Amino acid sequence: MATIVITGCDTGLGVEFARQYAGEGHRVLATCLDPTHADETRAIAGNVEVRKLDVTDHGDIAALARHLAGAPVDILINNAGIGRPHPPFGETDYDNWRRILETNLLGPMKLVETLVDNVAASQTKVVAFVSSRMGSITLNNSGGSYAYRSSKAGLNMVVKGLAVDLAPRHVSVIALHPGWAATEPGGRVPVEESVSGMRGVIHRAGRHHTGIFQTYHDQPLPW
Ligand SMILES: NC(=O)c1ccc[n+]([C@@H]2O[C@H](COP(=O)([O-])OP(=O)(O)OC[C@H]3O[C@@H](n4cnc5c(N)ncnc54)[C@H](OP(=O)(O)O)[C@@H]3O)[C@@H](O)[C@H]2O)c1
Repeated sequence: MATIVITGCDTGLGVEFARQYAGEGHRVLATCLDPTHADETRAIAGNVEVRKLDVTDHGDIAALARHLAGAPVDILINNAGIGRPHPPFGETDYDNWRRILETNLLGPMKLVETLVDNVAASQTKVVAFVSSRMGSITLNNSGGSYAYRSSKAGLNMVVKGLAVDLAPRHVSVIALHPGWAATEPGGRVPVEESVSGMRGVIHRAGRHHTGIFQTYHDQPLPW
């Protein structure tokens, strides 16, 4: 039985990660921005603990670390993320851009810095980040979405850096693209398929592959 910590389990992919890992008998710490509204997550059967964590709140992150009290965390999934709206060039909302960077980039980094000892003390030792194909600089041929794209491109750089810095501790650090998942209007990839695919990538990465950027169907993406 592994211990999995997941962020952003209020809705979407986070709920499904929690459901699938719990369904296999793992211990899941499903963290939510607002657990009082996370009815679906609280209804998941199995060893699931729902706990408040705003990834932009360093106090919440410290409280989570105290709660874990040094217990091993096999897989840390930085899933929480925001992006919308995507205003066009000329209509940039700078306050919202800062909020997006705090949520998608700075928060996940702080969480890893805080929980790295827990991950390093585990069997599996994986930190996974739900990034996005939209964070690929190479694949950006359509422009726009400056705030979201830059947050995920920055996240990808963090993944590469952490992969190097945490290699001596045998911690594997990976970036995942969930596909255009059905949590989004128009999304085509069923949520179950996206999450089971990402879990497969996490499982195969194990302690041996680090610093990789893979789609939910295990295809490498260019940075
Ligand atoms: N769906 C796709 O096609 C797609 C594609 C590429 C990448 N992604 C990435 O996949 C991840 C999950 O997205 P999703 O599709 O499942 O969308 P989602 O349903 O909106 O899930 C994101 C979750 O993060 C939570 N959240 C927002 N701010 C937070 C904060 N400060 N601290 C903790 N949690 C916070 C949200 O809570 P509230 O609901 O309460 O705001 C929400 O539950 C995101 O990182 C997203 O960028 C998704």
